Amino acid sequence: MARFVPKQCLPPDLAFFTQISGDTTEQVARHLLDFIPPIPPGSIIHDNACGSGAMTVALMEAHTKNIVIHATDKVPSLIDTMSKKATSLSWPVLAEVMLSEALSFPPAKFTHSFTNFAIMLIKEDAAVAEGIHRTLRDGGVAVLSIWDAPLPVQVVKAAHEFLRSGQSALPPAIARGSFNAEDLRSLLEGVGFTSRGLSFGRTKAVLEVADLRFWATAVWSFLGCPQNGWIAQDEQRWDEVIDFIVDWVQNWENYRKLDSGAVRLDMEAHVVVAWK
Ligand SMILES: C[S@@+](CC[C@H](N)C(=O)[O-])C[C@H]1O[C@@H](n2cnc3c(N)ncnc32)[C@H](O)[C@@H]1O
Repeated sequence: MARFVPKQCLPPDLAFFTQISGDTTEQVARHLLDFIPPIPPGSIIHDNACGSGAMTVALMEAHTKNIVIHATDKVPSLIDTMSKKATSLSWPVLAEVMLSEALSFPPAKFTHSFTNFAIMLIKEDAAVAEGIHRTLRDGGVAVLSIWDAPLPVQVVKAAHEFLRSGQSALPPAIARGSFNAEDLRSLLEGVGFTSRGLSFGRTKAVLEVADLRFWATAVWSFLGCPQNGWIAQDEQRWDEVIDFIVDWVQNWENYRKLDSGAVRLDMEAHVVVAWK
């Protein structure tokens, strides 16, 4: 039997899903390059859990000659799009479907390994960290980013408590939302990066939202589904929850209303640079 889905829930379309974070991962991908020395010619680079290729695009915009980028992600449609883009632009990018927790690259393949906003999503995070360390050359560098107290996680948690009064487990999409910089440090140290080789920094990205109510609907549609699936109450009280989310965001400390009527949301991220 088909699972119940509230009639207000947006369909699982990438075009809606990408509204949640806009181009913020692209903004941070560009900033990540400021945390390390310029990428030298001859570098072999991993864009781990590449998504739509934010990191690969940032690397290509840096115009470094004679590099090779291996872009991997678990979602075939993203890899397909990445491959087509690389071919059409003649980029030195090899894209393949691969789980970050089961990298099939040989040891010491990469001079650089980037994991932009992904490790906090993956339950097998120790295997992800191990793969990054194993595939990096001695003297190579890994750069990882995670959001600091990500807004979608905070607001979905609040809406979940508002609607379901702690009666059910957190939606799976945000269950790992408390993953933080200290978790990242212990993971990386646990797989062999030394504390001397690790440095932590911070960066920011700005999300501009033209229609906050639509943004709230996208966030709740894609992240609010409880562990056992949506139920009738989710449909009956849908508008109430969206009102709650809009109100919560309007009272968030990093919310600004712009003269244009759009909304500006300032996001903060942790960046770790790990030298092997
Ligand atoms: C928030 S997106 C970030 C994508 C990209 N790195 C960026 O900066 O825009 C997280 C990405 O992790 C990918 N992902 C999630 N779990 C994964 C896994 N176990 N192995 C590989 N990729 C995974 C998702 O498909 C998605 O593309």
